[in-house]
Amino acid sequence: MPLHKGSPQGTEPSEERRRLALNPFFGEADPTAGMESAPPRHRLPDGPMPPSTAYGLVHDELMLDGNSRLNLATFVTTWMEPQAGVLMGECRDKNMIDKDEYPRTAELERRCVAMLADLWNAPDPSAAVGCSTTGSSEACMLAGLALKRRWAARNSDRYPATARPNLVMGINVQVCWDKFCNFWEVEPRLVPMEGERFHLDPQAAVDLCDENTIGVVGILGSTFDGSYEPVAELCAALDALQERTGLDVPVHVDGASGAMVAPFLDEDLVWDFRLPRVSSINTSGHKYGLVYPGVGWALWRSPAQLPEELVFRVNYLGGDMPTFALNFSRPGAQVVAQYYTFLRLGREGYRAVQQASRDVAGGLAKRIEELGDFRLLTRGDQLPVFALTTTPDVQAYDVFDVSRRLREHGWLVPAYTFPANRQDLSVLRVVCRNGFSSDLAELLLEDLRLTLPELRRQSHPLSRDKQAATSFHH
Ligand SMILES: Cc1ncc(COP(=O)(O)O)c(C=O)c1O
Repeated sequence: MPLHKGSPQGTEPSEERRRLALNPFFGEADPTAGMESAPPRHRLPDGPMPPSTAYGLVHDELMLDGNSRLNLATFVTTWMEPQAGVLMGECRDKNMIDKDEYPRTAELERRCVAMLADLWNAPDPSAAVGCSTTGSSEACMLAGLALKRRWAARNSDRYPATARPNLVMGINVQVCWDKFCNFWEVEPRLVPMEGERFHLDPQAAVDLCDENTIGVVGILGSTFDGSYEPVAELCAALDALQERTGLDVPVHVDGASGAMVAPFLDEDLVWDFRLPRVSSINTSGHKYGLVYPGVGWALWRSPAQLPEELVFRVNYLGGDMPTFALNFSRPGAQVVAQYYTFLRLGREGYRAVQQASRDVAGGLAKRIEELGDFRLLTRGDQLPVFALTTTPDVQAYDVFDVSRRLREHGWLVPAYTFPANRQDLSVLRVVCRNGFSSDLAELLLEDLRLTLPELRRQSHPLSRDKQAATSFHH
């Protein structure tokens, strides 16, 4: 449940009678002295306990969480160097918003924005504006808000009186775009999947545009299968629309993952501020930006793309510091870790790390294909991510069975059904990140090989609810 409720009805009194489940070896001479029963779980304990006792209780419960390195469902960084961890520890008390108190942290944020503006080929990197966020979701909300506000300013004679804004995107967009449309009352116009096309089609997107379209979202790359959407073709199709009708529709690139992959591995791919129609770009610093969660980035090509009235001022060293954010307080550690990683790796370092992930993805995809039971929908040659399904002659089991069996070996590989118009298609997705080495990929393959004979002996797939994904997948 995303929204947590209080304690389950009726469990608390018996919980209180539980004996304290703590190893007496922990902590000082007797960390449980004076405690006769376990502390309550769903209300504040009446009094304090020694730190070693509290630590032991929390630590032991967390052992039941999964092993994040074996989580092939997540795009989010699960390994950083110890030095990054030390820096983050040193900065965990710094509040990002307090730029007056922590001017050097603020300066590192500014440098990260400048580096990204340069990396994404802003025509004048010094003129690009941007900010750090808690992740891509917040960055997408900010970018969407800017699109909506610019459209509203252009249509002040019709909005809010009669016009209703819409946003055009592929049905494969991440849930943050559904949230944006819901929270800010924008109509989502979704291009469905068709046949073997699992993301947005430029012409189909243009066909959905009208005078109330605040923008079109292009995704680099898609959460569902790791494929890059054709951003340049989308911009060309919108150029043609403008020539025909005069409608000038801006593009936002959701580069949550790909904006930190393509600049290093696909230098010839034109998807960024080199395209004049691209007005803003976001990325997740905590995905292929290689930083622990949560940090994201939102950048606009120039101040003209970010309406001034959305920017708030905080007092900074006696002057005015513009900020654009949904949050106020937020940790500075992740921003510092992002700067550390930029400095540590440089372009060549990022290229080496991302290429290694892509090599692992491509190699693993190919080896899985060679097993004979699976068909690859993507091959890990764009994002280091691939999606696969079972071949038509596999009748004994399905992708949900595979996902469950791999989980028995500790691997988290999500299985889920595609959206319209490919609800008939269920897939597994493997996200290869830094830290998922070729050795680990070999072990995953071995475990998959081990499960296959049993899966093939099933009389039919065991999943009852095909709509229920086996784990978090977007
Ligand atoms: C394309 C895309 N956009 C946005 C997001 C949301 O990112 P975050 O988790 O950083 O909020 C994701 C997350 O997977 C994504 O894949």
